[in-house]
Amino acid sequence: MTCTAQPDRKFPATMTWQGNVTGFLRLIDQTLLPVEYLEIDLKSVEQVFEAIRSLRVRGAPAIGCAAAYGVVIGLQQSVALSRAEFDVKLRQVTDYLASSRPTAVNLFWALDRIRTVARTEASLSPAAMLQRLLDEARAIEVEDREMCTAIGQHGAELLQDKTGVLTHCNAGGLATAGDGTALAVIFAAAAAGKQLQVFADETRPLLQGARLTAWELQQRGVPVTLICDSMAGWVMREGKVQAVIVGADRITANGDTANKIGTYSVALLAKAHGIPFYVAAPTSTFDLEMSSGQQIPIEQRAAHEITHGFGKQTAPAGINVYNPAFDVTPAEYIAAIITEKGLIMPVNEANVRRVVLE
Ligand code: MRU
Repeated sequence: MTCTAQPDRKFPATMTWQGNVTGFLRLIDQTLLPVEYLEIDLKSVEQVFEAIRSLRVRGAPAIGCAAAYGVVIGLQQSVALSRAEFDVKLRQVTDYLASSRPTAVNLFWALDRIRTVARTEASLSPAAMLQRLLDEARAIEVEDREMCTAIGQHGAELLQDKTGVLTHCNAGGLATAGDGTALAVIFAAAAAGKQLQVFADETRPLLQGARLTAWELQQRGVPVTLICDSMAGWVMREGKVQAVIVGADRITANGDTANKIGTYSVALLAKAHGIPFYVAAPTSTFDLEMSSGQQIPIEQRAAHEITHGFGKQTAPAGINVYNPAFDVTPAEYIAAIITEKGLIMPVNEANVRRVVLE
């Protein structure tokens, strides 16, 4: 993995494809932020897999984009094969990348899209097919950027001037190819002149809120206050929060929403305080084949993320640890889902299908 540091760019792209079909994927190593800004170059499919699994690139839409480019990287040495052999290799590479993380459906959505292109273009040579797959990966990235912009525009109207907005985890530019989902709404509202005070949950155990959301908002001049996850309820009680907005990793047909662990607790707190709880997500995050959130696979992560989360041991050696990376917020707690196609409100299966399938 070769590395290049580019700390001077203010709003850097989460990832960029470098070069032509023989090129590689360059992305910000998010595990190092905010202390160190480093772009890393991924030139093998194993490196892409590792980057997704270890959260160097993370956030549902960004994982999908990275995986699509990862397929291209994984097939670069296969252009001399027969088309049948190339297709076998493509299946292996997509299966491999699909096993990197289980919860965010954008990963499977992007890989399915790549497989569908390969099926549809069955007459192309491997070399032509590889170029076509790169075109598709680029299209996924461009569309993701456009979806972020549209989500921002649709959602901005929900946020009033001079209000407090609480967010959990990071659903910003770092989690997508564009401006983010939840943070795109905040950026769009701020750009429209609304004065917002954002409260960022630090988001234990991996601190995406403290390390990434606080960093992004600070970079873009949006007032942000960092709080520990356990403070959210009290901050609401004090009247400092008038809306909650989060991203999503998978939304089922009935509107149940998987997002970073802790989101469910925030939704309950919002309900108890009469505060609207919004989810912002592109339609690529919907899984209409699942009828409810009970079917969503929840990623279980390593114990050391909790026992050694701050770089030093913070729990007794050998302690039992439970570390689900996501939880599911039932649709009934969600005031609206903001998509690039518009608002789903109230959140129920009929409205989900109407908006997503339009
Ligand atoms: O484990 P992560 O950091 O990939 O989890 C990310 C989240 O839960 C985000 O809120 C979600 O992917 C939405 S990103 C637009």
